[in-house]
Formats: sequence, structure tokens, C-alpha cells
Amino acid sequence: MAKKILLSGIQPSGKIHLGNYLGTLKNWVDMQSKHSCLYSVVDLHAITGNYDPKKYQEDIFNTVVNLLAIGINPKKSIIFVQSSVKEHTELCWLFNSITPIAELERMTQFKDKASKNKQNINVGLFNYPVLQAADILLYRAEVVPVGEDQLQHLELTNTILRKFNNKFGNTFNEIKPILSKGARIMSLADPASKMSKSLGSKHYIALSDSPEEIKKKIMSAVTDTSESKEMSAGVKNLFTLLELLADKKIYNKYLNEYNNKSLKYSELKSELADVIINLLKPIQEKREYWLQNRKKVNKIILNGNKKARLIAQKNIIDIKQKMGLL
Ligand code: TYM
Repeated sequence: MAKKILLSGIQPSGKIHLGNYLGTLKNWVDMQSKHSCLYSVVDLHAITGNYDPKKYQEDIFNTVVNLLAIGINPKKSIIFVQSSVKEHTELCWLFNSITPIAELERMTQFKDKASKNKQNINVGLFNYPVLQAADILLYRAEVVPVGEDQLQHLELTNTILRKFNNKFGNTFNEIKPILSKGARIMSLADPASKMSKSLGSKHYIALSDSPEEIKKKIMSAVTDTSESKEMSAGVKNLFTLLELLADKKIYNKYLNEYNNKSLKYSELKSELADVIINLLKPIQEKREYWLQNRKKVNKIILNGNKKARLIAQKNIIDIKQKMGLL
């Protein structure tokens, strides 16, 4: 049986955090053997937010380095930069013509980003999910591993493809989101918000953080914020991380201690910090390797771009023919 096509993307903010990794990137690595995978550094998406054009090429490069370091294998998967394949923007425009404005107005990520950055509510930010649909359908991908925050965008992709199929004839199969257990990792300093780089460095652990930084951030993570009897969001987040990363036995030991009220948060945190440091050590070593082999990385990017372009150029012809544009 032919392998299903999988596509996912990440914005090139330079650093990757533990939320990205546990939320979806670990899945990207694990799914490589059973799927035909494309992983895109979505530079056209990220320019809808604030970014530094002078640093941008370096951020894109570092994002690819991080993907290689966590175990994305360029011999198995295509790693490419979105803007190097012009058909993404072309297909986005084609999809614009069948996407109802009302659907985009519902998007919570747009509302959230717009409310946090009132000086820069641009049309691209509004259109962001249409470009995301184009990313996926340009390669006829059917499997899309993401974190929970992307589910609404993927529902919209299915809405767009249904509209396309109805209007122009059956072309795309429905896409299936794949969530991991860590689909929503919360900020360490403000556990009501999801872990994200934009909140500031004490809120997240970057894959490149030193053991000292990791210790410091975990030891100062917010735990109980109220007298509530239920487990607080901060403690829940620490337990989620421990469950994802530590042996079941260790996780159960701390959970039992929590349940019989003998848990010392400092011990839980110290254990968790060690587990994270151990997880990141080999990733950081590989990261160093790739940083010292810039030429190899650039070759991987050029090669990936070329492969992606070939698929995209072929598929867009079919789409344009169906739409009467060819
Ligand atoms: P981005 O760059 O914001 O995040 C990359 C991936 O990490 C997941 N993620 C999280 N998961 C769990 N907990 C968190 N705190 C957390 N923070 C981030 C995201 O859900 C995402 O899967 N729009 C996408 C990029 C994109 C894309 C695509 C994805 C563009 N085109 C096509 C899939 C298919 C985004 O902004 O990801």
C-alpha cells in the first residue's frame, strides 16, 4: 500500500520550545517511517507577525538545524522552506476565491493575535489559515500532525477542500489531524496560557537552553495559585511533562505523593528538570554538529526545496485545469 502523504509546518522563530516538541515535533520524527513526509519552515506565515528581516535568514536556518537535531531525517523526509515554492501563494489566492470571510472571522487564533498586537492587524494575519490550507493541499497531504491550537485551522482546511470538490469536481481527500498526548503544553510562569515564545523566556524551555537555565525555569515554575482543592493548572502541567518524559514508576510515585498530600514541589521539580536535561542533551549535541556543518544544512534545504517544488508544480496544474485557468 502506498504511504499516505503527511505535511506539517513550523514558523521560523529561531528557537523551538518544549511545547512545540512534545506537542507535535516528536510525532513528526516518529511518523517518518510510515508516511511520506514533508516538513515546511513556514516563513510566509511568520511575516504576518513581528519579525526582524535582518535576522530572518538565520532564524530559518536555525529552525532547520533544530529539526535535524531532533531527528527529522532528510533521507526519509522532505524539509523545505515555504517561500521557495511559489505555488503556496498561488494556491492560497485560488482558495481565497472559495473561502467565506465569515469562516475566517471565526478563527480564535486570529482574534487572539489581533487583540495582542493591535498596531499590526494585517490582511495576511486574517488570511493565514487559507495559506495553511494551501500548504497542505498543494501536496495532497492527508495526515497533519499538530498541537491542539491548530485544530480549528485544520477544520477550515476540510471546509475549503469540500467547497473545492463540490464546485470543481472531486480532487482532495479529507485531511486528518494527528494530536499527541502533549497537545497543549502550558507556560511555566503563567499556566493559564499555552507555552509560547512570545510570552518571554521564563515562560518556555527552549531546546537549546542550558542545564542551568532549565533548572532555574522549572524550579521557579508556578504551582499552586489558589486554595482550590483541584489540582492547579501549573501542577497539572508539571505532571503532564513528567508523564510524557519520565518512567511510569517515577510518575506514579509523585502522583501518589500528591494524592496523599506528602508531595514536596521542590522534589517534583528537581526530578522533572533532570528528566528534561537528559532529554535535551543528545538533541543539543546533534544541534552543535549541524551548526558546525552549515554547508550540509544548506544542501539539505536546497535539495528539499527542489523536491517540494517538483510535487507542487505538478499538482497546481491539475488544480488550475479544474478551475478553468488552464
Ligand atoms: P507554530 O510554529 O506556532 O507551532 C508549531 C507546532 O507546535 C505546536 N505547538 C504546541 N503544541 C503544544 N503545546 C504548545 N504550547 C504548543 N505551541 C505550539 C503547534 O500546534 C504546531 O503544530 N500555523 C502553524 C504552522 C503551519 C502548519 C501548516 C501546520 C503552517 N502551515 C500546515 C500544519 C500544516 C503554526 O503556527 O505553528
